Amino acid sequence: MRLTILGGGGFRLPLVYGALLADRGEGRVDRVVLHDVDAGRLSAVARVLADQAAGVPDAPVVEVVHDLDEALRGADFVFSAIRVGGLAGRAADERIALAEGVLGQETVGAGGIAFGLRTVPVAEEIARRVARIAPDAWVINFTNPAGLVTEAMARHLGDRVIGICDSPVGLGKRVARVLGVDPGTAWFDYAGLNHLGWLRGVRVAGRDRLPELLADPVLLGSFEEGRLFGAEWLRSLGAIPNEYLHYYYFNREAVRAYREAELTRGAFLQRQQDAFYRTLERPGAPALATWERTRAEREATYMAHSRQAAGAGEREAADLESGGYEQVALALMRAIAQDRRATLILNVRGRGVLAPLDADAVVEVPCLVDANGAHPVAVEPLPAPAAALVGAVKAVEREILAAAESGSRDRAVRAFALHPLVDSVAVARRLVDAYTAAHPTLAYLR
Ligand code: G6P
Ligand code: MN
Repeated sequence: MRLTILGGGGFRLPLVYGALLADRGEGRVDRVVLHDVDAGRLSAVARVLADQAAGVPDAPVVEVVHDLDEALRGADFVFSAIRVGGLAGRAADERIALAEGVLGQETVGAGGIAFGLRTVPVAEEIARRVARIAPDAWVINFTNPAGLVTEAMARHLGDRVIGICDSPVGLGKRVARVLGVDPGTAWFDYAGLNHLGWLRGVRVAGRDRLPELLADPVLLGSFEEGRLFGAEWLRSLGAIPNEYLHYYYFNREAVRAYREAELTRGAFLQRQQDAFYRTLERPGAPALATWERTRAEREATYMAHSRQAAGAGEREAADLESGGYEQVALALMRAIAQDRRATLILNVRGRGVLAPLDADAVVEVPCLVDANGAHPVAVEPLPAPAAALVGAVKAVEREILAAAESGSRDRAVRAFALHPLVDSVAVARRLVDAYTAAHPTLAYLR
């Protein structure tokens, strides 16, 4: 089976390749085609992969292809894991928002809108190419903001594009661990949009175990989301929110922590990752060891500003292990390619399962996956406050899609102005000015 990876020079690619190396099953991926717009990054990552493959019998063959069409031709699966504007773009997204006193985060608030406006046109172009050159391929979208980008690509690929994120699985695993439950036996009642969802129940043997957790402050204090949101708020919600909801529920604290930090997340990663890729330009540098060290540091500092704002302390050792994204991607590929039924929380067009969103709205819900793709399952409706937030953010996503399609600056202003975390139309206008000045790729907005 042939897997093409767009954004093949991305830092987290060795996680995917590691999972492929460990897969000894029938019908596994035996050929990986890497494509990236940055040849230097590609060759750095290819070196890490070569180290990983050393001594592994029948390791999937890795091929670097510089032409996009050629990379796509004959693909069974395409992973889209690109970052338009790179980490310098991410850092600028944060800086510009913070200068206006609003949240600048990769996927949430003003920063997420700027990133979305840059990414959607590129993702749509990729989707059109896949539809033309590899119409039978399944596209697994890793690119953030993952829900929005999946919806953009679905306009060209329909249900053959599926978005993934590791945060719902991570939350499920943590909650299962705390409850002493085997996650393989539990049904996680999770629903929302990407980075905007809630775990409302954990059913084991037909019984919901979440109330037990919500009633126990000691258990609630023993995992990441419990510490981020605090027992009192979680009990009040009657659900465990995705960690990214910290940016909504504690917005002021999150913005303050970001403003006071020496470096925003994007700026920190830009520096860290530049050093990694520069090191790997030296022929003698130990590729895999350098990558491992860099990855450990990236994991340890994930969401550090939020944890600091919440007084949540360090991350748990178990949360630092890999196994998120790559395992979801592998399980999804396997279920489709081998018609092995699996239930996974994925980003797909909701077909109306999450009221009041329409059928084309991409949502993040449990899906039954088989050779016919991912089928969202019926979920309980969200409580009114959560449904209102989801509706507001989906409306913003639709403004971003409309701006990308029409090139209308006015639609871009609407996207910012209508976001619950942007508190003034005047701010929205200044954000559009500043973002278009900073990002040449936003020149299409007129
Ligand atoms: C989580 C999120 C991803 C994000 C990743 C890395 O897994 O679900 O969407 O890309 O963290 O975050 P970082 O801040 O390290 O880039
Ligand atoms: Mn994610």
